[in-house]
Amino acid sequence: MRSHGGVPSAGWWDRIRPHSLGWVTARDADGLLVGFANVAWDGDDHAFLLDPKTRGALQRRGIGTAVVAAAVAGARTAGCEWLHVDFVDDLAPFYLGACGFTKTAAGLVHLRQAAAPGDPQR
Ligand SMILES: CC(C)(COP(=O)(O)OP(=O)(O)OC[C@H]1O[C@@H](n2cnc3c(N)ncnc32)[C@H](O)[C@@H]1OP(=O)(O)O)[C@@H](O)C(=O)NCCC(=O)NCCS
Repeated sequence: MRSHGGVPSAGWWDRIRPHSLGWVTARDADGLLVGFANVAWDGDDHAFLLDPKTRGALQRRGIGTAVVAAAVAGARTAGCEWLHVDFVDDLAPFYLGACGFTKTAAGLVHLRQAAAPGDPQR
């Protein structure tokens, strides 16, 4: 998180890692972490790409694409059939263009914001 210019949250990776199928890191010649992506898993054939990040100063050099390609290959090798990702519209050129994801219908509920239809009345 710090490498890509975000604000780290203490204990984040310790909480996330046990639910991960695997993760990809990219490092420079000195071992500095410059790219990351996590792949979560449903325990069967669905994997979920989360948190791809490239170090700020090194973005737009193909690192993110290479990291995601390694995540795709790893999920395939692990026996998954599908790799899901969701993203804001601005990142469509990255996910749909560079990384080769197919556009599909999807749904999302922001659980901390609005009650969803069918939620029990309080
Ligand atoms: C999204 C992110 C991981 C891309 O990493 P990257 O190493 O810069 O990606 P690449 O260099 O492989 O980009 C390949 C292509 O994807 C597209 N692309 C990359 N970043 C983009 C962006 N921010 N907006 C629109 N298109 C983008 C471009 O077409 C790019 O090719 P170009 O540089 O020749 O134009 C990086 O911008 C990042 O860390 N962003 C902040 C964290 C984030 O938003 N992560 C994703 C959701 S958690």
